[in-house]
Amino acid sequence: MVYLVGAGPGDPELITLKGRRLLGEADVVIYDRLVGKDILDYARVGAELVYAGKKSTYHSRPQDEINALMVEKATLGNMVVRLKGGDPSIFGRGGEEARFLQKAGISFEIVPGVTAASGFSASSGIPLTDRRVSSAVTFVAGHTMQGRGIDDLPWRAFSSLGHTLVFYMALTNMNAITERLISGGLSATTPAAAAMSATTPEARIVRSTLAGIAGEAEAAGLKAPVLLVIGEVAGLE
Ligand SMILES: C[S@@+](CC[C@H](N)C(=O)[O-])C[C@H]1O[C@@H](n2cnc3c(N)ncnc32)[C@H](O)[C@@H]1O
Repeated sequence: MVYLVGAGPGDPELITLKGRRLLGEADVVIYDRLVGKDILDYARVGAELVYAGKKSTYHSRPQDEINALMVEKATLGNMVVRLKGGDPSIFGRGGEEARFLQKAGISFEIVPGVTAASGFSASSGIPLTDRRVSSAVTFVAGHTMQGRGIDDLPWRAFSSLGHTLVFYMALTNMNAITERLISGGLSATTPAAAAMSATTPEARIVRSTLAGIAGEAEAAGLKAPVLLVIGEVAGLE
């Protein structure tokens, strides 16, 4: 059996009770880079802990290898927790891994987690929606799959939505993202916030405008993981 468990955005107390219980029971825990180290303290003493972290610039373990490892460990009769940052199904390849397990005939269950945008919102006080200024929120991957560049995204549509936009994996492309939104017609003075390592002791937040946020985030030396939030909600007092 494999459990695809969301660890939440970093604060170890933001994992679900179910996720924590499963971690305490698992024989093998395969965890990602963005999983807060303290969360691994919930693992059973003697459990095998396997790092499967990925960075956009390198993959310490290719996805095929992670898939094969889950199947191998589960086939040997182990209870496996595949621990992922945030929510497994939001830019977390939870769906891909679930389909792979299904095809391999391995039983699995997905346990949701608090996604980075929710963690950011709670810890910064910036709501993702607010009935005064934004009645919807769109989550976008600011860094797309190999072979598909960010120019394949519908920038004109994003610019005209009139609601909150949250870009995950936003750091390296922040200039490109903001330029495309402005070219698409979104006002350069739209409030924006960039949040690094939300909900952790390293958390930092930079607030600016759409035109200014990339430069200010760079000047502030923000490092991954960074979330970019654009819209009137970021300017609410
Ligand atoms: C591959 S995605 C995984 C998202 C994850 N599945 C989730 O639901 O939050 C990684 C991106 O999530 C965002 N992220 C994850 N944790 C974060 C945090 N604590 N603070 C800010 N952004 C975070 C960053 O944009 C990072 O580049």
